[in-house]
Amino acid sequence: MRILSGIQPSGKLHIGNYFGMMKTMISHMENSDLYVFIVDLHALTSVHDRDRLAQGTIEAAADFLALGLDPEKCTFWVQSDVPEVCELTWVLSTLAPMGLIERCHSYKDKIAKGITPSHGLFSYPVLMAADILLYQAERVPVGKDQKQHLEVARDIAQKFNNEFGETFVIPEPGIDEKTATVPGTDGQKMSKSYDNTIPIFLDGKPMKKRVMAIQTDATPVEEPKNPDTCNLFQIFKLFAPAERLEEVRNLYINGGAAYGHLKLELLDLISDYFAEARAEKARFLADPGEVRNIMKRGAEKARVKASTTLELVRDRVGLNY
Ligand code: ADP
Ligand code: TRP
Repeated sequence: MRILSGIQPSGKLHIGNYFGMMKTMISHMENSDLYVFIVDLHALTSVHDRDRLAQGTIEAAADFLALGLDPEKCTFWVQSDVPEVCELTWVLSTLAPMGLIERCHSYKDKIAKGITPSHGLFSYPVLMAADILLYQAERVPVGKDQKQHLEVARDIAQKFNNEFGETFVIPEPGIDEKTATVPGTDGQKMSKSYDNTIPIFLDGKPMKKRVMAIQTDATPVEEPKNPDTCNLFQIFKLFAPAERLEEVRNLYINGGAAYGHLKLELLDLISDYFAEARAEKARFLADPGEVRNIMKRGAEKARVKASTTLELVRDRVGLNY
């Protein structure tokens, strides 16, 4: 099965990205035709700083590599290195109904957060549809927030197939309910744009500060608490071994859960969980040229598939005269 997903290099990747998408993608490496990419063209809708975008792209690539993505076992590239996606975006945008794009809540959410509205921000879901359809992806693992964008991609693919004949595979979303939304330190969805993240590779004092900042209520230690509505417990759950998790769940239910101690324990758990990857990341960042070469080689592989689909599309719509 062809599985595909992308991530924006618009800030430091966090544990929400990891459990919502990266971990799933890495786990599919052995048993699928895996496509993973860094969506720098999408990030341009919110990042207008040359160095930040370029450095963010190298870092996001290094994050995936450090976490175990093997470029020999998948196709791993940077979106803008395959310009075919822009041509397909235009063709698809001539089919995408305005009403469908206008209904996308992520555009409204981003504007509400202060991102300047632009045509690119508005048509973001069409570029995403092109990303998916260009590679004829069958399954797209994403967090819950991307579900609507997946529906847009499916609708556009169906519309194209109806108007021009069978061309695109209709992609299925792959959403893992257990980790569909990892909460941030403030209890909202963890997101690079909310300043509530726990970055995967933060270290030392800054990491401690983030973990200690996880918001909890004021219930005294000895009183019972509901683990399922506690932000700290939801994050703890991602890292703790099953036996310890059960103990802590019981402390919540029966009284005795001390938030401060649990936060310190969580800090150690996170640090151990990513220890090996952290060392790998430092190794990759010490040689950004090598990271760049890996991504350029990946783009060559991706382009083979992209140009086959684009030729078919050009043919179907009458651009090959
Ligand atoms: P962010 O909101 O931090 O900018 P992105 O929009 O770049 O994250 O998302 C990259 C991937 O990570 C997507 O598949 C998205 O659904 C997933 N993701 C992001 N935040 C979370 C979260 N808090 N919980 C689960 N998955 C998430
Ligand atoms: N829009 C996605 C996000 O913000 C990133 C993305 C772009 C993507 N193109 C994609 C995800 C294609 C899956 C497939 O998270």
